[in-house]
Amino acid sequence: MFPVVERRMIVPNVHVLSIEAPEVAESARPGNFIILRPDEQGERIPLTIADWDTSAGTVTSVFVQVGASTAKLARLKPGDRIPSYAGPLGHETEIDRFGTVLVIGGCYGLGSIHPIARALKAAGNRVFALIEARSSYLLYWEDRLRATCERVVVITRDGSRGYKGHVTRLAEILALEGIKPDRVIVHGCTYQMMEISGQTQPLGIKTIVSMNPIMIDGTGMCGVCRLTVAGETKFACVDGPEFDGHEVDWEEFLARRESYSSEEVEPLHRSGCASHF
Ligand SMILES: Cc1cc2nc3c(=O)[nH]c(=O)nc-3n(C[C@H](O)[C@H](O)[C@H](O)COP(=O)(O)OP(=O)(O)OC[C@H]3O[C@@H](n4cnc5c(N)ncnc54)[C@H](O)[C@@H]3O)c2cc1C
Ligand code: FES
Repeated sequence: MFPVVERRMIVPNVHVLSIEAPEVAESARPGNFIILRPDEQGERIPLTIADWDTSAGTVTSVFVQVGASTAKLARLKPGDRIPSYAGPLGHETEIDRFGTVLVIGGCYGLGSIHPIARALKAAGNRVFALIEARSSYLLYWEDRLRATCERVVVITRDGSRGYKGHVTRLAEILALEGIKPDRVIVHGCTYQMMEISGQTQPLGIKTIVSMNPIMIDGTGMCGVCRLTVAGETKFACVDGPEFDGHEVDWEEFLARRESYSSEEVEPLHRSGCASHF
């Protein structure tokens, strides 16, 4: 059993979860993820590692409450225990001296880009961050990025902070800010990663995305997380989760995700959580 050290809502519907898991903390690297179960009856769900502390033996993720399992996680309190916490899983983010790197985060990615930005800076890169949210009250961990990055650019859909709009303005914002990235790394929702990949391709900027398909075993055995990258079948859990965004077959990826929609709503009704949405 793995003790919960912290579970706290940091902005509406987004929670930070720290678990005591010294062996995971010991080998965690930027871009890795874990698979946990919120309780004995719960399904296995993947969360990206957003931070870790080897001396305290803790590992932290940021999660968005979207369905039955994340609703269970949102009810955890410090001192509670969860039955399984496996990781670190997946390949770590490729860290090298690329030059200028733009890390982009939306949704839970505002948390998980943080260790990537830190490692890129330590490797000698100029690191810029671009963070996106619906409104300013949904931004979090900006202070951590400001401590690491040369500049943090904000986009809010309602214009309450920074640029108004969406990442569809990426090319224009890069020109206005005078940022010329050699590499872009995006953690966030699927549409955001797909949109950014579409915009950086004509600019010739290598773009890494962290893919988030449904996962079950996380070991390459079940095949559920498969996607097509550069015309080849890949498994996000063992070959990824990060891939070149210009090589992902986005149309197929979106179609596969949507095919499970009715199965995702059913457990909410069974658990009575649907009334909260
Ligand atoms: C490698 C990876 C890293 C991820 N990191 C994070 C993170 O750091 N923070 C975060 O909030 N979310 C993360 N996700 C997504 C997270 O796993 C899902 O939001 C979660 O499983 C939803 O479960 P649910 O029962 O609450 O919602 P459901 O109602 O079951 O599903 C809601 C949405 O989550 C997706 N989902 C459902 N089950 C799974 C599953 N077993 N595996 C993957 N996606 C699923 C579905 O596509 C659906 O759109 C990650 C996913 C992957 C694959
Ligand atoms: S989760 Fe089963 S193969 Fe990736």
